[in-house]
Amino acid sequence: MFERFPEGFHALIQGASRGIGLACVRRLLDEPSVGRVFATARRPDRSEGLQALAEAHPERLITVPLDVTDESSIDDAAAAVGARSERLHLLFNVAGLLHDDSDLKPEKRLADVRLDNLERSFRVNAFGPLLVARAFERLLTHREHAVLANMSARVGSIGDNGLGGWYAYRGAKAAQNMFTRGLAVELARRSRQLVCVALHPGTTDTGLSAPFQSRVPEGKLFSTEYTVEQLFQVISGLGPEDSGSFLAWDGKPIPW
Ligand SMILES: NC(=O)c1ccc[n+]([C@@H]2O[C@H](COP(=O)([O-])OP(=O)(O)OC[C@H]3O[C@@H](n4cnc5c(N)ncnc54)[C@H](OP(=O)(O)O)[C@@H]3O)[C@@H](O)[C@H]2O)c1
Repeated sequence: MFERFPEGFHALIQGASRGIGLACVRRLLDEPSVGRVFATARRPDRSEGLQALAEAHPERLITVPLDVTDESSIDDAAAAVGARSERLHLLFNVAGLLHDDSDLKPEKRLADVRLDNLERSFRVNAFGPLLVARAFERLLTHREHAVLANMSARVGSIGDNGLGGWYAYRGAKAAQNMFTRGLAVELARRSRQLVCVALHPGTTDTGLSAPFQSRVPEGKLFSTEYTVEQLFQVISGLGPEDSGSFLAWDGKPIPW
C-alpha cells in the first residue's frame, strides 16, 4: 500500500471526527510508511475517536480545527499545517452532508426543495473541498508524488441519475465533481506529480447512510474499515494519467 508515495509521507484527512474520515486516520496510523497524519474536524476535542488516536499516537497525529463552511477556518488550518510540514502528499476531503438534525433531508420530490438546504449542502459538499484545495495548494504542488482526493458519491453522477430526487446532495456532489476536474487541469500545470480525483466509497455503515440502510441489498453495506481499505488501494494505484477521473471503491470509473 502507498508504494508510490515517498517514505514517511504526510497525509491530511479533512472531516475526520467520525465515519469514513475517522477510519481513514486510524488506517493511516497503522501504516509504517506514513510519517505524519493531520486530522481536521470542526471540533477535534469533541471527537472521542480522534482524541483516543491522538493519545495513542502523540508524535504522528496532529489534530487541527477546520470547518469547511468557514473560509477563515480553512485558511487558519492551512497555516497551522504549513507551520508543521512543508509538503503534503495526500489530502483527502472526506467531510460531507446528506441530512442533519434540522429539516435537511434528501428531497423526494421537487416540492421538498428549500433554498437554505441547497445552500447548506453546496457549502459542505461542493464549495468546501474547493476552498480547501485553494488553501492547501502550496503544500500539494511540489516535485514528489501527491494525491488530492475529493469524496464524491455515485449519486452525484449526472449520467447515472435514473431515479431523480435528492436534489441538494446530488447537485452539490455533481458541482464538486466539476471542481475536481477543473483542479486536475489547472494544478497539472504547476505540478505534474499531483493527481486530483473524485472518489465514491460505496454504501458504508455510517451516520450518513443510517436512515437509508434498509434499502441496501444483503452484503452490500460496507464497514468503514472495508471502505477505507478499498479507497486506499485505489489511491495507491493512482498515477498522473488518472488525474481528473471519477472512480468507485473498486477502482472502476463512474460516468460524470
Ligand atoms: N456513507 C455512505 O454510504 C456514503 C456514500 C457515498 C458517499 N459518501 C460520502 O463520504 C463522505 C463521508 O461520509 P460518512 O458516511 O463518513 O458520513 P458521516 O459519518 O456522517 O461523517 C460526516 C463527516 O463530515 C463532517 N462535516 C460535516 N459538516 C462539516 C463541516 N461544516 N466542516 C467540517 N466537517 C464537516 C462531520 O463532522 P462533524 O462530526 O463535525 O459533524 C463528519 O466528520 C461524505 O463526503 C459523503 O458524502 C458516503
